[in-house]
Amino acid sequence: MIVENNVPLQPYNSFGIVARAQNLVRIASEGDVAELRADPRWRDAPRFVLGGGSNIVLTGDVKPLVLKVEIKGLRLVEETPRAWIVEAGAGEVWHDAIQWMLANGYPGLENLALIPGTVGGAPVQNIGAYGVELQDRFDSLDAIDLDTGLSFTLDAAQCAFGYRDSVFKHVRSGPNDFGLSGRALISRVRFRLAKPWKAVVGYLDLERKMEENGNFTPSPTDVFDWVCAIRRAKLPDWRVLGNAGSFFKNPTVTPEQCADIIARDPKIVHYPMADGSIKLAAGWLIDACGWKGKSVGNAGVYEKQALVLVNRGGLENPVTGGEVMTLAKAIQTSVYERFGIRLEPEPVVV
Ligand code: EPU
Repeated sequence: MIVENNVPLQPYNSFGIVARAQNLVRIASEGDVAELRADPRWRDAPRFVLGGGSNIVLTGDVKPLVLKVEIKGLRLVEETPRAWIVEAGAGEVWHDAIQWMLANGYPGLENLALIPGTVGGAPVQNIGAYGVELQDRFDSLDAIDLDTGLSFTLDAAQCAFGYRDSVFKHVRSGPNDFGLSGRALISRVRFRLAKPWKAVVGYLDLERKMEENGNFTPSPTDVFDWVCAIRRAKLPDWRVLGNAGSFFKNPTVTPEQCADIIARDPKIVHYPMADGSIKLAAGWLIDACGWKGKSVGNAGVYEKQALVLVNRGGLENPVTGGEVMTLAKAIQTSVYERFGIRLEPEPVVV
């Protein structure tokens, strides 16, 4: 275990923002955490757990010790008549892990193809796309309590999944509160992939693909290929144009608030939720305020999807975290002034 100093973080965040970690340690196994805790210089040091860096905005150099999770491994743990249970190391690249599962005959995660980041980041924000959320395919995870060094396992209920939310996004604020932000390092995630496999193709974009291809009984690979094609057409590849995916969560409102907005803007895109609330498309709200294609410094709003903020300066003259946050605040203000809705950022601001 080596603690590196003054490490450039540009290669480790999908926006391509320039920042440095004062100290960084690569965690390739649970043993590395134990070793770190055994070293008096680092045992009680403030720390920051870094996965794929695809959902963060770096606003300056990172002073806490960066724990870069590089735990690998993919295996079938159990097969029952009703499911495959597959385990992946937190440091595996998310998309590659899905491809491995498909190639080995364990389908179920194909709707979540091409989401940037690592396996360990997936439960933190309960990633979701095209009708599937991580919690729908989740079995359990292993994590290490960085305060005590003890390993523990959580099931779905204990992860407290919500829309782009989990126990890992919350800070513990009292004795009865179970927030694990900054405290837990996720080491392995197990997926429960139900048998027999059933395609999830209710999402409008996927229905269109079925029509276009005249294929109404797609295989897991068909769905995988379609999701990849839809994402490539709509969302920028962070390797080409830095970004952190959707920058804001889709807000929910009451039916009364929604009716009020529809009276003024009949075209607003909205979806009724199971709990009676209405989810609004944040991308539509931002688009309606005229932000698509606009920039503040090197921070821009993507031309094809207003929910995605991008780095217009590339790796040579990259956007700063400050510029990204200035643009985000300007967008929040104009959406609030026009619709009375407060947009909540999705990425973690560091
Ligand atoms: N829309 C516009 N203008 C825009 C963008 C969107 O009018 O500039 C409209 C679209 O026409 C559509 C609606 O808004 O009717 C929703 O757009 P889309 O289907 O692209 O989905 P989204 O709500 O913008 C969410 C997730 C994505 C996920 C897609 C597909 C959030 C915050 N985002 O986006 O997740 O890939 O659905 O399921 O929930 C991410 O979290 O990083 C992410 C990319």
